[in-house]
Amino acid sequence: MPEVIIEASALHKEYSGFPAVKGIDFAVAKGECFGFLGPNGAGKTTTMNMVQGYSPITSGTLTVFGMDRRKDHRNINARLGVVPQENNLDPDITVLENLLIYARYFDIPKSVARERAASLLDFMSLTDKKDERIPKLSGGMKRRLMVARALINEPELIILDEPTTGLDPQARHMIWQRLGELKSSGRTLVLTTHYMEEAEHLCDRLVIMDGGKILTEGTPRKLIKKYVKGSVVELAMPESGPARVLECLKGIEFEHEVSGSVLYIYTEDAATALDKAACFAASGFRHRQATLEDVFLKLTGRELRE
Ligand SMILES: Nc1ncnc2c1ncn2[C@@H]1O[C@H](COP(=O)(O)OP(=O)(O)OP(=O)(O)O)[C@@H](O)[C@H]1O
Ligand SMILES: [Mg+2]
Repeated sequence: MPEVIIEASALHKEYSGFPAVKGIDFAVAKGECFGFLGPNGAGKTTTMNMVQGYSPITSGTLTVFGMDRRKDHRNINARLGVVPQENNLDPDITVLENLLIYARYFDIPKSVARERAASLLDFMSLTDKKDERIPKLSGGMKRRLMVARALINEPELIILDEPTTGLDPQARHMIWQRLGELKSSGRTLVLTTHYMEEAEHLCDRLVIMDGGKILTEGTPRKLIKKYVKGSVVELAMPESGPARVLECLKGIEFEHEVSGSVLYIYTEDAATALDKAACFAASGFRHRQATLEDVFLKLTGRELRE
């Protein structure tokens, strides 16, 4: 059995009586990348904040590195790196100074901090920005600096709350590559994201949360297989409704979902489905591989929440 790095049992958080996380259970093993997905307000950041010791636990148990999160604050945090959802860099000092000052929280000797900062700036391709002040950085540079800062204490566990939100594809891919390298070097990663492709690319296992609860857990591949089958056929919904299309599909195994003017058919046998429903596909259809996004929308609904 691999070493368990985080273990949560009946983990619960209330803000002035409002339950944001409702008694969740999960375990993260050493060396894996574990993802938290879920719509806005699902409780992901609240969970991250409890794991990093920033937000007190209302009830339940939470251990990190086998230590009680409520008691061993200093010992846990020495081995932990955090990229919070919101950047909180100091705008009045330079990129390099942001790293050096952060190193002081961990009592890292100055000479060691300088060496690490230089190599982290190199790792995140920020060396030529080291003397720049924060307001002059682009969003992608600030995010890369947040990742560099989280690594200053050489953490074994890194928590990343939406590390790539708002970044362009180049910056996102660069961060993915670096996170992949960190994983290969044996670090444990915990990640929240709204990008399903990111989760499929990086996460060994993940949970989907909604309304403070965990709806499901598994590898991206297993979740796709379990909830949506291999292929999706999207058809324009006939004015008379889906009944006649569904009638045509008799004899093959499929599931369907209606959202707005689209009829979604989930099946392992898209070719036969398209053949049988050819007259309904005549005015246009889309056939594609099922993704984690289909699982997400199936479990959490397609309607806008806010
Ligand atoms: N400090 C707080 N005080 C009161 N309520 C809060 C506080 N922080 C979060 N909440 C509420 O708790 C719930 C969960 O919020 P949380 O930030 O954990 O969601 P999230 O899954 O991270 O969402 P997002 O994807 O938008 O970042 C929401 O209903 C939110 O309004
Ligand atoms: Mg959040």
